[in-house]
Amino acid sequence: MTTPDDSKIPVLIDCDPGHDDAIALMLALGSRRLDVLGVTTVAGNGTGPVTYRNARKVLSVLGANVPVAKGADRPLLRKLVTAPSVHGKSALDGPELPEVPETGAPAEALDLITEVLLGNPDRRVVWIATGPLTNVAIALVARPRIKNALERIVIMGGSTGAGNWTPSAEFNIHVDPEAAKIVFDSGVPLTMIGLDVTHKALVYPDEVERLRAAGRIGKLAAELLDFYSIFYRKRGFRGNPIHDAAAVAHVIDGSLVTTRRARVEVETHGEFTSGRTVTDFSPEGLEAANCDVGLDIDRERFVELLYATIRSMG
Ligand code: RIB
Ligand code: CA
Repeated sequence: MTTPDDSKIPVLIDCDPGHDDAIALMLALGSRRLDVLGVTTVAGNGTGPVTYRNARKVLSVLGANVPVAKGADRPLLRKLVTAPSVHGKSALDGPELPEVPETGAPAEALDLITEVLLGNPDRRVVWIATGPLTNVAIALVARPRIKNALERIVIMGGSTGAGNWTPSAEFNIHVDPEAAKIVFDSGVPLTMIGLDVTHKALVYPDEVERLRAAGRIGKLAAELLDFYSIFYRKRGFRGNPIHDAAAVAHVIDGSLVTTRRARVEVETHGEFTSGRTVTDFSPEGLEAANCDVGLDIDRERFVELLYATIRSMG
C-alpha cells in the first residue's frame, strides 16, 4: 500500500482484544501513516461482550475518538473457542483499565463496516483483521459491494506450517475456518501475516523495559506484556510474539515483512487438520494465487517502529 507521504492510509480494524490486539491498536492509532476509520470487535480471545468491552477500554485509555462497534458473538457454524490460557479470563488480564460506561446498545459491526466502506466512493480502505474472520465473512456475504471499496484485507492469521492452537491451525483461523474460507475465496486482495512472520515479531524482555520507560502508553504496553509473557515463557519463547501489531506494522511500512504470492486454501473438514491454511507456492499455486503470504519480518525495525510510535503517544 503506498500513498503520497502527506496522505494517510485509511484503515478499518476488526479485532478480539486480546493483549496483542491492544498493542496493535496502540500502533495503529499512534501512527501518523494511518487514518483509523473504525474498530469492530469479534468473539475470539474472549466472548463477544468481553472483546467489545476490552476494545472500548483500550481506545478510551488512548483517548482515541474512533467509532467502535460490536460484532459476532460466535463463529458462523462452530461453537466458540476462547483463549483464557493466553489472555486470562478477562481476555486482557494484567493491568486494570478503567471501565467505560455503556451508553445504550452497542453499535452493530456490520453497520459500521458498511458505513466506512460504502460511505465514501472515492476511498479505498485497508481492512486489518486481527481476530477470527467471522465479521469480515459476514460483511463480504451480506454487503458484496464493499469489495469495491477494499484496497486489501491484511489478516493476522494462518501459517504455512504448524499451527499454534492445534498442530494444524493458528488460533484465529481455528476459531472460524468457514469464515476464513469465505475471506480467502473472496477475490479481495489479501495479505496473510501468519505465524511464519509473527513468531519472529518478538519483543524481548529488555525491550519491554524500554517500553515501560517510554511514557504512559508505553507503561501500559509493558504491563500488558508482563501478563502476556507468562504463557509464552512457559512455551519456551525468549520474547513476546506481538502477532497483531505485526499486521498493523506491515500496513504502515510494507518493507518490514517479506511476502510471496501463493494459493491459500482453508481446510474446513479435517478431524485433525481443520483450520489449516494450506499454502501452495508451486507454479500452479502461483498461477491460482489469492494471497501475499508473509514469510519473514525485520524484527529490529518492527520493534523500533513499535517503540517510537508508542513513545510518541506520551
Ligand atoms: O494466533 C494469534 C492470534 O490469535 C492473535 O490475533 C491473538 O490475539 C489471537 O487472537
Ligand atoms: Ca487477536
